[in-house]
Amino acid sequence: MDKPKEKILITSALPYVNNIPHIGNIVGSHLPADIFARFMRTLNYDVTFVGGADEHGTPIEIAAQKKNLNPKELCDYYYNIHKKIYEWLNISYDIFSRTSNEIHHRTTQEFFTEIYKNGYIKEGKISLPYCEKCNRVLPDRYVEGTCPHCGYEKARGDQCEMCGNMLNPTELKNPRCAICGSKPEIVERTHLFFELNKLSAQLEDWIKSKKGIWSSNVIAESLGWIKEGLKERCITRNIRWGVKVPLEKFKDNVFYVWFDAPIGYISFTNELKKENLWKKDSNNAGNVKIYHFIGKDNIIFHTIFWPAMLLANNKFNLPYNVVGLQYLNYEGGKISKSQNRGIFCENLSDSGIDSDVWRFYLTFLIPENSDAEWKWDEFLNKTNSELIGNFGNFVNRTLLFIQKNFNGKINFKELNFGDDEVEVLGKVRRKAEEHKQTMLNGHLRDGLKKILEISDIGNEYMQKKAPWKNLKENFEESRKTMYCCALICYELANICHPFLPNSSGKIFGMLNLKVEPKFENVYKEDIEFEIKNVVTLFKKMDEKIIDEIKGNVSKIGVETKEGKKAEEKEEIKMENEENKEITYEDFKKLNLKIGTIEQAEEIPKSDRLLKLTVNLGPEKRIILAGIKKFYDAGDLINKQVIVLTNLKPRKMLNIESQGMILAAEDEEGIKLLIPDKKAKEGSEIG
Ligand code: MF3
Ligand code: ZN
Repeated sequence: MDKPKEKILITSALPYVNNIPHIGNIVGSHLPADIFARFMRTLNYDVTFVGGADEHGTPIEIAAQKKNLNPKELCDYYYNIHKKIYEWLNISYDIFSRTSNEIHHRTTQEFFTEIYKNGYIKEGKISLPYCEKCNRVLPDRYVEGTCPHCGYEKARGDQCEMCGNMLNPTELKNPRCAICGSKPEIVERTHLFFELNKLSAQLEDWIKSKKGIWSSNVIAESLGWIKEGLKERCITRNIRWGVKVPLEKFKDNVFYVWFDAPIGYISFTNELKKENLWKKDSNNAGNVKIYHFIGKDNIIFHTIFWPAMLLANNKFNLPYNVVGLQYLNYEGGKISKSQNRGIFCENLSDSGIDSDVWRFYLTFLIPENSDAEWKWDEFLNKTNSELIGNFGNFVNRTLLFIQKNFNGKINFKELNFGDDEVEVLGKVRRKAEEHKQTMLNGHLRDGLKKILEISDIGNEYMQKKAPWKNLKENFEESRKTMYCCALICYELANICHPFLPNSSGKIFGMLNLKVEPKFENVYKEDIEFEIKNVVTLFKKMDEKIIDEIKGNVSKIGVETKEGKKAEEKEEIKMENEENKEITYEDFKKLNLKIGTIEQAEEIPKSDRLLKLTVNLGPEKRIILAGIKKFYDAGDLINKQVIVLTNLKPRKMLNIESQGMILAAEDEEGIKLLIPDKKAKEGSEIG
């Protein structure tokens, strides 16, 4: 094999780990990036494929708040789910890391400091929505309202999902707090701004230089933004969760998530110890091509905001290509978690079919130029006719035939190819070259179609030559045909690898060859095929199987499974808390007072609880105490006790308990804590 060609770095948009990814997220970046990465590896490029979780910002904070978890716990939980899904789908990341890692925080701070030194950061005042009820400023997704550009009613404070515009939170019409729905007021705060506007001319030249490399809609959209005029952009937020701003004055601030997230591409690459892929002044300067695969709502951030950061920093390479993908719909509508519309990937691995089958149909749906749509009947038809009826059929009938009639062994020895063989192999070779060009131009869907055309050619050839007829009278002719078909299978094993990695591996295995997918002319070699253990690549689909798949995919009801785990999480969290050290501040939160028991009654339905009336000086409280087994009600009257008075009231057996009495417990039972001298009711303890 030739020595490795140039280095390329491929990235896939870093998903927020605040939910379960759906098939739209898969075709919107991970899958196309993976297909391209695998393809470039078969061409012997030195490929690094980087991905990871975007763990900061309001998308994470809000989701955590809604689930009563802290952001870190939420991310830990979803990060693992995401990672497993991508692994199952064979997304061949060299690393799938997290922006919460220390190295990422450090890299972001260093990155910022450089921009700061280079004079692209300034301090300024910004008006921000403030929610009185929630008692907080509402950055980014904390505020929703109507987009001033397109009128979409659910636009968020930093971006409108519908038209893609970057927004400032006060630009929204009819703003409302995303948590409680109330109408915010406007307050003024001091923040740091990135002076994007200073880089406008440089960005424009750079984007124009991408004509012929980027898709025309990505170029058009990006130039459109420049034309509208770039504004300075606020990059700090007054919240805790995120990367801390390394300036004394802003030490209580973190960076805006879109400032730190793309730097993840660099920090994750650094985790792989491949710093040089990004560094401008390394020996690789100008040599490393960086490809970003992203969904369309991310385009502007990757063609303007992120390159502007890189230009201002001046130490790193700029992206070579930004591949912007459109959306995937589902059976005539948008994918929506809340409406349970779409396929959510958590249960894909229980679907009962090979991940290659999912990859196969999803590849057809990669929304390269316009939105695409998942349709179950098309999934059934395409899988049956193309993947199974054409591709799988050719491979399986070829290999089975050889296994059965040639004892699996077939080689080139003493074979003379006739016109038919030269013709068919020529055709296959030309298709393979077309495939390569198509792929290099970034048309992955069409790339897959070319592969199916190759197996089609194979099927046609085999049908025409009818090797089964020649087995008796003209064995050599039959052997020739089948050697040729085996070569085509070998070609298919190589070429289908980027799309169908499992199947590619299986074909290599059945051919008894090392799994080493590469794009090259396979016909030069004299290969000794030794076919064994032929297995059917895919099983045929029908309505019933589709129903089963649908059932399996949604069986565990994403919501409930997730909800259950979140509950478990909540328990773990409480346990952790019990074992934590507390500060004096924490202790001070407990409001402990002396009280005198005035009444004590048994509660008929309970063999554990006594109902006490406790005099706390200015007030009396009803408190339920689990001491019935250890004290007689009568003995308790006039005893003084220590009461925790600011515990949230709790209803038991329909009686509200308004506090807690302190007691010790040993092997004999429960013992009330009693002051050694009589104290005034209501005296504070501390
Ligand atoms: N988390 C963002 C989203 O899901 C994408 C971030 S991509 C990166 O829309 F560039 F910031 F990494
Ligand atoms: Zn809009």
